[in-house]
Amino acid sequence: MCPALTIRPYSEGALSQAAGKLRAGELVAFPTETVYGLGADATNADAVAGIYAAKQRPSFNPLISHFPDRDAAAAHATFDARAEKLAAAFWPGALTLVLPKRSDSTVCELTTAGLPSIAVRVPAHPMARELLRAVGRPVAAPSANRSGRISPTTAGHVAHSLGNAIGMILDGGPCGVGLESTVIDLTTDRVVMLRPGGITKEQIAEVLGTEVIMAETDDSAPKSPGMLTSHYAPGLPVRLDATAPDKATYGHEILLGFGDCVTKGFDAVLWLSKSGNDVEAAANLFARLHEADQKRFDGIAIAPIPATGLGLAINDRMKRASAPRAPHPSP
Ligand code: TXA
Ligand code: MG
Repeated sequence: MCPALTIRPYSEGALSQAAGKLRAGELVAFPTETVYGLGADATNADAVAGIYAAKQRPSFNPLISHFPDRDAAAAHATFDARAEKLAAAFWPGALTLVLPKRSDSTVCELTTAGLPSIAVRVPAHPMARELLRAVGRPVAAPSANRSGRISPTTAGHVAHSLGNAIGMILDGGPCGVGLESTVIDLTTDRVVMLRPGGITKEQIAEVLGTEVIMAETDDSAPKSPGMLTSHYAPGLPVRLDATAPDKATYGHEILLGFGDCVTKGFDAVLWLSKSGNDVEAAANLFARLHEADQKRFDGIAIAPIPATGLGLAINDRMKRASAPRAPHPSP
C-alpha cells in the first residue's frame, strides 16, 4: 500500500524531491531543531488527514503550521505587538505562537481543528527552513511518531515508528533541542503558556515585560474566564450515532452522513464521506461542522461511524463537540 521508504540526507535533490512530495499531498518527515516533524501541506485537508492515519492518533488536535520566516506566517495569522516582539526575539526557534487566524488564510480547517486561531512556528533547523521555502506553502507537522510513543529526535526513530506508513524521511542528523517547541497563546490579552518546551517561561516574560500564565493542564478543571476554549464546538447541539430522525425529541436536524446511513426524514444532509471512507470523512469533518451550524436547524445529527482507522478519532472529536457546555454567546 505504501511506497518503499526513502531516507535521504541533505542535498539539493533530496530537498526538491521532498518539496515536490509535500506539494503533491504526500507526507514527508523532516528534521527541526526540536524533534522530527511529520509534514503535510497544511492547506490540503486530505494530506492532513493522512498525518492522523499514519500516526494512528486517537483524536484530532490542532496542528502547528510551519513557515520559513515571519512574513510567510503573517499571511495566515494576525500579529499584534506582543507577537512581533516574540517573533523577533525567538524566531527562527523553538517557539510556537497561537494567534487569530486570518480570514483569508488558506490553511484548512482540519489543520486548525475548526478553531478561529492558528498555531505558527518558524523552525531554526536549516534543512527545515530550506524545505519550507521550497514548498512555498504552510506545512502542518506534529512530531513524527506513532501516537503515544516518544518524540523522535533522529531519522532512525522516525523510521522505526512510522517507516511502513510514510514514503520519505529527510535525514538532518539528531535534533539539537530534543524537546518540542513552547506554545504561547496570544489570542486574549493575557500571555498563556499552553505547552512548556524549548523556550522558557522566564525568557518569554523578559521579552514581553509581562506575566506568563500557565494553562490548566487538567482538562476536567474549569477554564479561567476569558481563556479561549481549545476545542471547537458548533453552536447547535450535536447528536452522535443518529440512525433515524426523531423530530419530537430533537426537532429539525441536519445530518452529517457517512456511507450507507439512513438520510430519509432529516431536514438536510451534508456528507462526511458518501463512500464511507474514514480518511475522507476526517478531511471534511470541521468544514462540514461549520457548514451545518446554521440557526435554521435545531441540531446536528451524526451518522454512525465505525470506530476503526480514523473513525476512532472522528468519534472522539464528535463526542467532545456534543458534550454539555455553556451556550455560545450570540454573535
Ligand atoms: O516542536 C514542535 O513544535 C514540533 C515540531 C515538529 O515542530 N511540532 C509539534 O506539533 O509538536 P504538534 O502539532 O504536535 O503540537 C501542537 C501543539 C499542541 O499542544 C496543540 O494543542 C497546540 O500546539 N495548538 C496548535 N494549534 C492550536 C490552537 N489553534 N489553539 C491552541 N493550541 C493549539
Ligand atoms: Mg507529539
